Amino acid sequence: MKISVIGTGYAGLSTGTGLAAKGHHVICMDVDENRIDKIKSGLSPIYEPGLEEAIRSAAREERLEATTSLEHAMKNSDVSFICVPTPSKKDGSIDLRFIEHVSRDMGMVLRGMDGYHVVAVKSTVVPGTTERVVIPNLEEFSGKNAGEGFGAGMVPEFLREGSALKDVLEPDRIVIGELDRRSGDVLEELHSVFGAPVIRTNIKVAELVKYASNAFLATKISFANEIGNIAKKLGIDAYDVMKCVGLDNRISPHFLRAGIGFGGSCFPKDVMALVRKGSALGYEPRLLEEAIKLNRGQPLRIVDLLRKRAGSLKGRSIAVLGLAFKPETDDVRESPALRVVSELLRYGARVRAYDPKGAENFRNVLPKVSCFSTAREALKGADACIVLTEWPEFRELGDDDFSGMRERIIIEGRKALNPNRVSGFEGVCW
Ligand code: UGA
Repeated sequence: MKISVIGTGYAGLSTGTGLAAKGHHVICMDVDENRIDKIKSGLSPIYEPGLEEAIRSAAREERLEATTSLEHAMKNSDVSFICVPTPSKKDGSIDLRFIEHVSRDMGMVLRGMDGYHVVAVKSTVVPGTTERVVIPNLEEFSGKNAGEGFGAGMVPEFLREGSALKDVLEPDRIVIGELDRRSGDVLEELHSVFGAPVIRTNIKVAELVKYASNAFLATKISFANEIGNIAKKLGIDAYDVMKCVGLDNRISPHFLRAGIGFGGSCFPKDVMALVRKGSALGYEPRLLEEAIKLNRGQPLRIVDLLRKRAGSLKGRSIAVLGLAFKPETDDVRESPALRVVSELLRYGARVRAYDPKGAENFRNVLPKVSCFSTAREALKGADACIVLTEWPEFRELGDDDFSGMRERIIIEGRKALNPNRVSGFEGVCW
């Protein structure tokens, strides 16, 4: 099938590349020329394992193109996925600016198109958005009626950064919110390449499934952190507890890793947007509010622990290992490291950081931080070390790598170090 993907962020580019890898012909479209030039020359504008190789191999087989022309993308495809960002407004509610723009522009292109075309929303949008914003814009600017001149749907994306391509290629389930049977049939056929269970439902349900999934996982992490904070007071390791708890099939072992809390461009933003949507509907989502509150405080626990161990941080040199919000990504959006490092700087500390991929993005936000090209260099002469991302290479560090520190205080915010190789460190919840 011929597909266009509008917006080439983590979700759009991974989805487009995954669909191309499965044999569809995909055109990735973005207004950012820089991004499109990179994709055209076989480079990925973001770091994501396996993505660059997959872009190149799909392009070689002439199944993946990139363009800045919305018209070219839509006119040469049967289905278009909207994958533009849905950031937060100042009050935490969803900002639909890009959705508004793109749906109007797509409506204008649809006006000049013959034949049946399906527009599907993949961006995370609060329930009601596709039916109240996207479809009306498409209708107004195309002069056509939804369900007659064109089809529409909402197909939420469940990929995680750091394993985005794998998640696209091996989904647990495909949820299709359909405007009508014809739109749903096209979307189901398109997704049949994945061999995953397909659930067809209405558009609003599909929109809420995405928020409910993210809100549940985020709440599960906050729960693990709550237990973790109690475990720390008891002098026990939260992971020993959660290993047993997670073996209960009703609970599952996933997303029970306590630490410095969840970050990234999705959980914090999406849970807040759901809280705001609930309030706007006259309901106060207290459980979700608490999950967010607990998460905000969690990164600061490592700073408190550090101050307890090291005393005043003024003028002290602190090595920070890990800046990205999770391993295998260069993304630092809402990374707990931003919160922690800002706090360290506020206390007058000097920060020597290392992250395998995220240093450049981090320094764009907090330029005061000195970044080094290995963990060992960042550790040299440090008065203390904190570990904020569980990059696999940190498991390989040994006592020798820490030997250049001036004082040996090592605290982890994520389970990252190998106790068989490094001695005398402690964790926020262990
Ligand atoms: C999340 C969801 O997992 C995806 O299903 C969803 O598609 C995506 O948001 C989205 O809405 O686009 P992502 O934010 O990329 O994916 O990454 P996660 O693996 O979910 O991690 C989010 C944060 O939670 C990270 O900071 C991670 O370190 C933290 N986390 C995760 C924990 O603190 N503990 C855990 O047990 C698991």
